[in-house]
Amino acid sequence: MSATLTATRAAATHATATRQRIARPADRVLVALDTTDLALARRLVEQLRPHVGGFKIGKEFFTRLGPQGVEAALQGAPFFLDLKFHDIPNTVAGALRSAAAMKPFLVNVHASGGPAMLRAAAAAVGEADPRPLLIAVTVLTSLDDDDLAAVGQQGPAEAQVLRLARLAQANGCDGVVASPREIAALRAACGPDFTLVIPGVRPAWSAAGDQKRVMTPAEALRAGADYLVIGRPITGDADPVAAARRVADELAAA
Ligand code: C5P
Repeated sequence: MSATLTATRAAATHATATRQRIARPADRVLVALDTTDLALARRLVEQLRPHVGGFKIGKEFFTRLGPQGVEAALQGAPFFLDLKFHDIPNTVAGALRSAAAMKPFLVNVHASGGPAMLRAAAAAVGEADPRPLLIAVTVLTSLDDDDLAAVGQQGPAEAQVLRLARLAQANGCDGVVASPREIAALRAACGPDFTLVIPGVRPAWSAAGDQKRVMTPAEALRAGADYLVIGRPITGDADPVAAARRVADELAAA
């Protein structure tokens, strides 16, 4: 069996096992902690932990507060470390080994780092215990077809998303981060075991803010999403627990 096929099968098996952590619809919700206020992050985690599946730590939080901040805020709650590594294979592998020490259940890299980088990333997470799911970023949703052409990537954006998703899958990634409107095509191209992590989710009762092309949680779930990343509709609500419960109720009814 080719190394690529072996990596793909190992990733699919792992994805199936990891998705068993979704015991109830609310476990699909990951709350984005986009803040540098450690006390606020910690309070949100304490309040929301019973009502969601986990949290997302991104560059804003991590660059200021680091691994100590992660430990202090999360206190063992499941989290997605969204640092989108993109570098030479050896450096990305080292970054992922460092990341794994914090025990995230999801980590990510840019698929455009190429096959060797993706394989090095898959090997690095494969050494970790527990092994996090390795998720790839395809085309940033802030880029349109003209932006892709400007950096020498072949559009249209949706074709490039599928190209990079297949590349990621063939080189050991468990899934991708994608916009809601890409879910159906990615499910068709990459199959049922490919983990789809979806930001840009907006309950009908919340403001879209700067997110365009949004879907409600129920629509994203029906379209085939595995995890929904939701930030401000929950963290910015006057009552974050009530907001998280409304999302959970919507998912349970979907
Ligand atoms: O507050 P909001 O629900 O918009 O937060 C969504 C989170 O998902 C943010 O951390 C944002 O950076 C991230 N994200 C996104 N769109 C993408 C990729 C990531 O909104 N295409």
